[in-house]
Amino acid sequence: MKILGIETTCDETAAAVVALDDGDRGRILANEILSQIAEHAAYGGVVPEIAARAHVEVLDRLIARALDRAGTTLSDLDGIAVAAGPGLIGGVLVGLVTAKTLALVARKPLLAVNHLEAHALTPRLTDGLAFPYLLLLASGGHTQLVAVKGVGDYVRLGTTIDDAIGEAFDKVAKLLGLAYPGGPEVERLAETGNPERFALPRPMLGRREADFSLSGLKTALRIEAERLAPLASRDVADLCASFQAAVVDVVVDRVRVALRGFGAVAGHPTALVAAGGVAANGAIRRALAAQAGEVGLSFVAPPLPLCGDNGAMIAWAGLERLRLGLVDDLTAPARARWPF
Ligand code: KG4
Ligand code: ZN
Repeated sequence: MKILGIETTCDETAAAVVALDDGDRGRILANEILSQIAEHAAYGGVVPEIAARAHVEVLDRLIARALDRAGTTLSDLDGIAVAAGPGLIGGVLVGLVTAKTLALVARKPLLAVNHLEAHALTPRLTDGLAFPYLLLLASGGHTQLVAVKGVGDYVRLGTTIDDAIGEAFDKVAKLLGLAYPGGPEVERLAETGNPERFALPRPMLGRREADFSLSGLKTALRIEAERLAPLASRDVADLCASFQAAVVDVVVDRVRVALRGFGAVAGHPTALVAAGGVAANGAIRRALAAQAGEVGLSFVAPPLPLCGDNGAMIAWAGLERLRLGLVDDLTAPARARWPF
């Protein structure tokens, strides 16, 4: 089985080819990605209209390149998978219409994949992980703790009531005058900063539900930054370190609560998993690995290039669905919102 995966929901244009190995794992034959970061940097965030146009300009060539690198052709594929949402609707439409056209012309099954589900299933591509597992899905637009019981079988244990974790990193970066996207920048500066200099709040700590709230933390940081302005580079590093330490404490506490609730909905987890762009954060990964170890679970997170948005995760989710006969037809809608 061999699938093409197309990703255009945000600011990465991506196309990949993934095959199913005998051992039930995925083998990535090509994983092409073009980031639009440079085009959005001046605006401090993703501009939907610019994103959609940029996807149109490069997607066809990127798909051709992915097929080339994979040494395959359209007619050799078993299906065409595309992220049909959630995301910026202009970009989603570009990917979906392209995928439908290819599916129609080459007479291949269409797999309209949920972008979040694709993040959630990535550890099965990379590590062959068995169900059920506890997933922390944290990106620029989403923060969820989910019991992943099977393909299409997810129980949400917690979510954010305001900002997503990645969004909080991005907003803090903007506030401190750092480059977009903020997550990697904040992490880089946090390494040299003092995490104890600012006593920032840990919202939701100790609550019985596994929900997140991050806007209060961001506000507390803004107040400190305004009090100190103009900021010296040491201040910026200490603010980054203090912010990241607070996020880590919150994440560990919320995961603890979700682990406690997991058994009742899904039995015993095979692992604790982190996915989505924020899973690239080393401090969060280390804290979760330690936490998993304490309760005798393994910790799984995709390798860094597969944490952020990519085509391989879409192809893999398509493969998982195709195996189960969960194919879509040409009426599949583009969805700006699509809870999973
Ligand atoms: O999954 P993703 O690539 O795109 C979305 O679907 O949102 O995630 C991007 C988000 C951004 O908010 C970015 O700042 C955050 O992930 N991120 C990080 C790190 N790398 C990316 N956040 C914290 N630490 C990082 N190292
Ligand atoms: Zn994503």
